[in-house]
Amino acid sequence: MPLFEDLKVFSGNAHRDLASDICSYLGVSLGSCDVFKFSNDQTFVRILENVREKDVFIVQTLSEPVNDHLMELLIMIDAARRASAGRITVVIPYYAYGRTDKKDQPRVAITARLIADFISVAGADRVLTMNLHAGQIQGFFNIPLDELTAIPTLAANFEERGVGNLVVAAPDVGGAKKARDMANLLDANIAIVEKQRIGNEDRVEAMSVIGSVEGKTVLIVDEEIDTGGTVTAAAQILKEQGAARIYCSVVHPLLSGSASSRLADSPLSELVVTDTLPIPDEKRFDRMRVLPISSMLGEAIHRIHSGLSVGAMFGHQQ
Ligand code: R5P
Repeated sequence: MPLFEDLKVFSGNAHRDLASDICSYLGVSLGSCDVFKFSNDQTFVRILENVREKDVFIVQTLSEPVNDHLMELLIMIDAARRASAGRITVVIPYYAYGRTDKKDQPRVAITARLIADFISVAGADRVLTMNLHAGQIQGFFNIPLDELTAIPTLAANFEERGVGNLVVAAPDVGGAKKARDMANLLDANIAIVEKQRIGNEDRVEAMSVIGSVEGKTVLIVDEEIDTGGTVTAAAQILKEQGAARIYCSVVHPLLSGSASSRLADSPLSELVVTDTLPIPDEKRFDRMRVLPISSMLGEAIHRIHSGLSVGAMFGHQQ
């Protein structure tokens, strides 16, 4: 017996296709609400159906324009709270601002924490998200948070090809744990690319590779591709070090600016991403494959609504 009454799913404007796919998995209709901007650039939200005592899920990935989509999310939470929703869970497949999660230079903000505070203060009761930039961001929230991972989905997709002689590569030192998790699933060794970011700009230099990739098929793993600088620099140095073929699996395809053309011109044989973010046609290219993750999000929503274990989806003890 669910703890709260009927399940209701609403979507902001960030990725309505994903919200519709989640609703198809759950066998419910997408909730009706107005979310638009007035000509003065201010956002207006009105929920167009009764949510009193309902179990409300608001789906809003933090895609471009990030600040507008964040504001929509906060206003939707406020609208649901003032409409007496029983419980409000925000479903944020991609959590933006997560890369700034510590003071690693003087006089900078910790935006990953600031956004968590916004969401809690607006009135959310729970958060459902996927592959945060760093696991400790979970602790920036004082409300329960479930973090799903697409790594097993990406690993299963790669496994289907039956590629042997595989090395999983982290494109920077910070990504070593993600590479290890993927390598464990694929029974492969790991390599680590040592990267340097020049200032706060998007320019990335790959300095060296820790581990041997000579003659191997290499799978680069990362949680996000933003400008594509990290992955293309890693692919280049891996090729120089003798990698036979280079693939890349990434959870969140931000693909900012000219990332797609940069990736299309890189030595990558294939790029596999998920649809946590919308990918317009002009950002797609032949060697890109998109894996849907709506069923994973839908299953997690079903479990949260029904009081079932979410960890059990990933083989954790119930
Ligand atoms: C950084 O720590 C992340 O894991 C990604 O490597 C980074 O966000 C990718 O950014 P870009 O594609 O702009 O190099």
